[in-house]
Amino acid sequence: MKIFDLKYDRPFRDEFQALCESIFDEGFLTNHKLVSEFEEQFAKFQNVKYSLAVSNGTSALELGLGILNVKNKEVLIPVNTFIATYLAVKKAGGIPVLCDIEPGYFSISAKEIEKKVTKNTAAIIVVHIGGHISPEVKLVKKLCKQHNLQLFEDAAHAHGATLDKVTAGNWGAMAAFSHFMTKVMTMGEGGSITFNDQEAFEKGRSLRQFGMSPENSILHEHEGGNFKITEFQAALGLLELKRINKRILKRQVLAKRYFENLKGTNWNVITDTDGSKGSYYKQIIIPPVSREIVSQQLSRAGIPLTGGVYDFPLHQQPVVYNSLKDRDFPIASSFCAGHICPPCFPELELEDIDKVCQVLVSIEK
Ligand SMILES: Cc1ncc(COP(=O)(O)O)c(C=O)c1O
Repeated sequence: MKIFDLKYDRPFRDEFQALCESIFDEGFLTNHKLVSEFEEQFAKFQNVKYSLAVSNGTSALELGLGILNVKNKEVLIPVNTFIATYLAVKKAGGIPVLCDIEPGYFSISAKEIEKKVTKNTAAIIVVHIGGHISPEVKLVKKLCKQHNLQLFEDAAHAHGATLDKVTAGNWGAMAAFSHFMTKVMTMGEGGSITFNDQEAFEKGRSLRQFGMSPENSILHEHEGGNFKITEFQAALGLLELKRINKRILKRQVLAKRYFENLKGTNWNVITDTDGSKGSYYKQIIIPPVSREIVSQQLSRAGIPLTGGVYDFPLHQQPVVYNSLKDRDFPIASSFCAGHICPPCFPELELEDIDKVCQVLVSIEK
């Protein structure tokens, strides 16, 4: 079994080739018609008003933080996230403040926010870990209102995910998505930032292209960057959007199989509860034995573990560790050391999940 196994059928390949032909015919290779079409379609898919296509999920975060103007301001982020969340805050000139997580869906903890918010806090980033929107976001939203803070969703894992039928991208001021190769949909590299506010969207469009004035392309109004994507990436993105619902549904079906197979055992399979419907970018399981033992046993059966979310939280990362005074994040430390993410991607079949579960249950005995 592979860690991931992207497959493209003949009709997909033919459509992609036809779109590539149309790009060559048009003779305009970047940030053009297909990019606009992709942005419209992606906004529709996430049920938001606007989206911008950008070079990757990291630049979506950096661009969003630029719109929020967090320079010299504190941005509260969960300690359990990919390094990109932290780096984006630094690149945008902000001060990342690490917070512990809640134990349900491993998202930033509202209690921690209450402890760490100061007069210099500008924003909070909520990361939808593994593709689940945690009900905790409702408490976080309340706190944002109370303290006049901006809420930014790191939805890198959460294409199509909902909580109380509200889609990722509708919980805060904006949301950043990653379309990296292993994600729920991919353009090889790529990302999107989504908005419901027109002014933020327009500032984002300018920041994406060197801070260019919308009226005059040789005048620059903001300190922007180059976060654009090519027409070829947009072509891939458009085709991915045609199959994304089917692929998310398959992930959910596979995840349900993990849950059903391991029900009644002491393997804790994280599943949809409290109105959350996940994308299942990752199937998270808390095993009754150490990750090393699980990994060894699965590996003997030819089954790989995929990367955790995350194996090492930010405060254990060499690039972050020395800058911290407070390294006490008990919930994240315990979760990060003690969970696994077995394979769960749409190219797998139910029998594959059964095979993984058989090995897992045999470890329990
Ligand atoms: C939570 C999170 N945020 C941001 C990113 C960055 O996305 P990208 O790799 O597209 O830059 C990732 C990517 O893995 C991620 O997992």
